[in-house]
Amino acid sequence: MSATMKKAHAIEALLLGSLAVLLFSFTLPATRVAVPVFGTTVVGLGRSLVGGILAGAFLLLKHERFPDRRYWGRLALVSCGVAVGFPLFISLALNHVTSAHSAVIVGMLPASTAVLSVVRAGERPSLGFWLAAGFGLIAVIGFAAIQGAGRPQPADVLVLIAVLMGALGYAEGGALAREIGGWRVISWALVLAIPMLAPVVGLSLLHSTVHPTAGAWLGFGYVAVVSTYLGFFPWYRALALGGVARISQIQLAQPVLTLVWSALLLGEHIDASTMVAAALVLVSVGASQRMRVRQAAVASGPPRSPVLARERVDIRPTPAPSAIMTRVPARRKDCSTMTGQRDRFLTMKQTGKPIVMLTCYDYPTAVMEDEAGIDVVLVGDSVGTNVLGYASETEVTMDDILHHLKAVRRGIQQAYILADLPYRSYETPEDALRNADALLAAGADGVKLEGGAERIEVVRALVERGIDVCGHIGFTPQTLGSKGRVQGKSYDRAWQLLESAEALEEAGIMMLVVELVTEQVSKAITERLHVPTIGIGSGQYCDGQVLVVTDVLGLSPFTMKIAKRYAGWREAAEQAIRLYRDDVTASRFPTTANAFPVEAEALERLEASLAASK
Ligand code: KIV
Repeated sequence: MSATMKKAHAIEALLLGSLAVLLFSFTLPATRVAVPVFGTTVVGLGRSLVGGILAGAFLLLKHERFPDRRYWGRLALVSCGVAVGFPLFISLALNHVTSAHSAVIVGMLPASTAVLSVVRAGERPSLGFWLAAGFGLIAVIGFAAIQGAGRPQPADVLVLIAVLMGALGYAEGGALAREIGGWRVISWALVLAIPMLAPVVGLSLLHSTVHPTAGAWLGFGYVAVVSTYLGFFPWYRALALGGVARISQIQLAQPVLTLVWSALLLGEHIDASTMVAAALVLVSVGASQRMRVRQAAVASGPPRSPVLARERVDIRPTPAPSAIMTRVPARRKDCSTMTGQRDRFLTMKQTGKPIVMLTCYDYPTAVMEDEAGIDVVLVGDSVGTNVLGYASETEVTMDDILHHLKAVRRGIQQAYILADLPYRSYETPEDALRNADALLAAGADGVKLEGGAERIEVVRALVERGIDVCGHIGFTPQTLGSKGRVQGKSYDRAWQLLESAEALEEAGIMMLVVELVTEQVSKAITERLHVPTIGIGSGQYCDGQVLVVTDVLGLSPFTMKIAKRYAGWREAAEQAIRLYRDDVTASRFPTTANAFPVEAEALERLEASLAASK
């Protein structure tokens, strides 16, 4: 990963981790108002049950499929840790000790998570990190002790188990989030816990008479929705991005924040010792964020959907028999075939077999490209300047691409169909997901988008959804204008292109178009990436090539240096159009041979009727 990317990830992780800790810091005040009314079991376990129901609904809404079998064991560990273990044991302990007392041991959670990050997430924190974490641990425990924790008690064992369970859930969940995305980790972990929680919470409710106040509902609602579920979205993403050990140290600030809220919301007094402890904790958190922690490599690459590519809906109408070309209606390829296609492209790269990509905008050309064995047909935004008469690619809309894509889809049986996300259709992850979904529903197998490091967030969102993404770097017409300019001549630009390519690969692209990039730089990019590169105007060393079909057929008025004309369709078409015009003008076309005669008897009657009506 490049230094710029690392820095961006570190900042994002720090911000998300801080947000999560901020959200978690309201848990204690919220629990305090809920427990006296609902009881510890209902609050402790009911919060996970409600969180699980919410998570289930969210997963259904997003049409998520069950995660792959290989994740089940790890999800079960997360579930035991954060959905059942931590809330259960803390609730049990709080029956015997005060929350101030338990805070001493709960203060060990960040350090315990760091220890478990070594065991479960394969991280290797440096000595400096352990010193900073140890300093924070002492500050927080000392602070909690000063707040009136009292002497050790037997119930402390319960708090200790809770801490270990929580740390396990954080470490395992943070590591797993790197592979399948944080929100999926917490969602599935909570759903998995429902069968365990429902009977216990149900029985507990049966044996109690509850008269909830609005405040109690609010408190319970907060711990169920935010502390148990939504707070984990930023938390797990932060742990995945910034590393479990490092990010877990931000939680040292949680007891201090909780006290600040108690002061602000409940009017409690903050004394000098609190302020000193807060300052010490902040110093420790700051130091731990700077210390070196060696991260484990993610075996399966960037965060991905835990299931294979989503099933896509076949909305293609059956093609009408064409006068020019009749063909058996194209059958939709299923997901496994598409996954096979992606693997085939990887194998082609590994075995040095060039991948052939060609743009395509209509049904008859699609039929010809498919029958010719083109590997990837690209419904590119070049449709704008080559077919639609636009001055620039930026004029191409989603409706344009969808219209041409549907025509192409009807003509393809074998080839992989890639569709361009047009200009401004992927400004945010939400836009990108909505528009990519529309392209998939219209028959695309994957989507292509332009840009480098600035598009990582969008690429990641698409990949997490299970969508195939092809990147496009170098000369990018959507942002650099229609007039091509060679990229990667200078050292800085070449390095920037390499960084973009690596960042895109890390975000999960399955292929990369490299347009108008100097030959040596596109060679270096091709050698560095595991996914195939497809060149256009970038020399001979890419793993495949793409051209605009109108250039290949010779329909364009001129041929660019980077293209090759394989036919003279323009001249042939111009001549055909002139001949037609001349024939009609000279009454040579149509002749009787091109017309259809009426029946003799009908003609006779028709002529008689016409004469009579004069
Ligand atoms: O839109 C397009 O045709 C393209 C190719 C030039 C790669 O993006």
